[in-house]
Amino acid sequence: MKIIAYGIRDDEKPYLDQWSKDQNIEVKAVSELLDEKSVDLADGYDGAVVYQQKPYTAEVLDKLASFGIKSLSLRNVGVDNIDADAIKRNDIKVTNVPAYSPAAIAELTITQLMRLLRRTPVFDKKQAAGNLQWAPDIADELGHMTVGVVATGRIGRAAMRIYEGFGAKVIAYDVYRNPELEAKGIYVDSMDELYAQADVISLHAPATKENEHMLNDETFAKMKDGVWILNPARGAIIDTDALIRALDSGKVAGAALDVYENEVGIFNTDFGSFDAIPDERLKNLMARDNVLVTPHIAFYTKTAVKNMVQFALNNNKQLIETGTADDIVEM
Ligand code: COI
Repeated sequence: MKIIAYGIRDDEKPYLDQWSKDQNIEVKAVSELLDEKSVDLADGYDGAVVYQQKPYTAEVLDKLASFGIKSLSLRNVGVDNIDADAIKRNDIKVTNVPAYSPAAIAELTITQLMRLLRRTPVFDKKQAAGNLQWAPDIADELGHMTVGVVATGRIGRAAMRIYEGFGAKVIAYDVYRNPELEAKGIYVDSMDELYAQADVISLHAPATKENEHMLNDETFAKMKDGVWILNPARGAIIDTDALIRALDSGKVAGAALDVYENEVGIFNTDFGSFDAIPDERLKNLMARDNVLVTPHIAFYTKTAVKNMVQFALNNNKQLIETGTADDIVEM
């Protein structure tokens, strides 16, 4: 068995080498992402392990299938950048890694919320300028707030446990209800109810057609004044222009964004200076004291990266050997 792994970064390589040695399976690591140019490298392999935010296009997937590769294993969770028709047409089996570390995402989400609530970015800035005064930057306490968790998959539930540890009241909305949470009476019946009650909205939903721009002018209007918005999920869930308007009006008190709708090609790039970042809306957000932007780093922990690489390789081996796998994704 021979596997090709695309888009392998230096921080992933040791985990890949370890797996290859332990399993005695040849894994070719290439730094290129899987695209129309690099797809030819896959000729002669039995499966491909991938991670990228740029699209997996029909042309690329048709080519993979023409090489006999029917096993495609993602090192991440989201499958929104895959051409589903091409997957079905070519009978390619896809796996993801649904739980490489839900805690990694949850911990960054709450870290950023606490920074916002305690105004530490403002104090850092004031202190750097020699200003050690308290006022006017009085903080809010999470333990007195209601947090509305949108989607109660593994990440949403990991976040909930932390919110509860702070003493916050947690409510949630999901179309698929978790029986244990249901029994605890956590769910509200509609997003409108969640908007009406939540002081903090913590987004953990995937990017689907239904929830594209779920947060928009109309839905911001339904929220409490001074709501805090947390998005470690997918940029497409928030209409960025509407968020900027809601921040300008004070409807939204602040936001922590680990994702951004136009992040592809921008995040995980060093532009050399703030001014050189080629996205004015993103810079508008980044320049605000009450908005914390991070470049899609919530997943980026040693535990998560190791699991992403090794779980994806396990999945790919399982797919090649059996045609199915525990983490198979219905496309
Ligand atoms: C995912 O797992 O889908 C993520 O969003 C993390 C990715 C940037 C590696």
